[in-house]
Amino acid sequence: HRACAQRISHWMRDCGFDEVEIDAVGNVVGRYKAATDDAKTLLTGSHYDTVRNGGKYDGRLGIFVPMACVRELHRQGRRLPFHIEVVGFAEEEGQRYKATFLGSGALIGDFKQEWLEQKDADGITLREAMQHAGLCIDDIPKLQRDPARYLGFIEVHIEQGPVLNELDIPLGIVTSINGSARYICEMIGMASHAGTTPMDRRRDAACGVAELALYIEKRAARDGTSVATMGQLNVPSGSVNVVPGRCQFSLDLRAPTNEQRDAMVADILAEIEAIAQRRGLRYSTELAMKAAAAPSAPEWQQRWEAAVDALGVPLYRMPSGAGHDAMKLHEIMPQAMLFVRGLNAGISHNPLESSTADDMQLSVDAFSHVLNQLAQEQQ
Ligand code: GLV
Ligand code: MN
Ligand code: MN
Repeated sequence: HRACAQRISHWMRDCGFDEVEIDAVGNVVGRYKAATDDAKTLLTGSHYDTVRNGGKYDGRLGIFVPMACVRELHRQGRRLPFHIEVVGFAEEEGQRYKATFLGSGALIGDFKQEWLEQKDADGITLREAMQHAGLCIDDIPKLQRDPARYLGFIEVHIEQGPVLNELDIPLGIVTSINGSARYICEMIGMASHAGTTPMDRRRDAACGVAELALYIEKRAARDGTSVATMGQLNVPSGSVNVVPGRCQFSLDLRAPTNEQRDAMVADILAEIEAIAQRRGLRYSTELAMKAAAAPSAPEWQQRWEAAVDALGVPLYRMPSGAGHDAMKLHEIMPQAMLFVRGLNAGISHNPLESSTADDMQLSVDAFSHVLNQLAQEQQ
């Protein structure tokens, strides 16, 4: 992770950014200055962390596209009437700790101090991990940005789904990012002998969770546009001949609106209670993340649309099922995203994730177009 941050920071310097730093939360921040110091700043970027066994483009594409644009501005010796700040966010995926959006959260003043006491699977606290990485935790509150000094936030991202690929369209205009909630849960029953405990006397925690896994699948499908995933399901110290006494599991629940997400969450929590009652189990649920749906700011969406139109590429508007750093910046400034078509049916969170140089170049061209458009507006 730290080597990756170093590598990005060196490449930013090579591109001609005026200032490059790795900040207190681990974000890599590059600034390319405006013609005048008192100008406002365009904020952009994406994350450089990834899921376990993920692909190469999720996140990184949104760092490298604006870097390519800045490299070109620098090559031309050109300054715009606004500063450009490109951020490689240190953490977006929420893999090692329950906390997530650590990088973009810090920029909006939403890095929660209690997160520092969370432990990873090996018992290492977030505080210890960050200190070990040489980060100055005390300085994180200073990373909060003043929205009055910013024009807005734009993010380029690989689509991570099959839509653009099926339509044979290279770029997508994001209209809104789905709202989400994550829970870390545990079902607790009674561990007992697998050979001697009759079926009607068991309090099998894993069977309770299995029942829930099938329920969430049906409940999300009922909405049509909601999704629900149990990505982690673990019987701690389970044995082949022991009825599972505990079962830990995660829930990732998303929908296009907060209301639709909250209705699904309520039904799923009620179902956990019902299953526990029926099976004589106890349980705990801990909300690990809740991100509001983030509709694109109309004027920024319009700038992406004008850029895509100018490239002669078909204009296709779509919601984002995946979460993005833009959801956090959305809380303090206008934002809009551009999607780039993925290959292999748009698969993501998988090493098969891919895109083409041609499609990525189109996103660089669209980004440059937005920069030029903004430059004209700021004249
Ligand atoms: C991030 O990739 C997410 O949507 O979970
Ligand atoms: Mn991801
Ligand atoms: Mn991503």
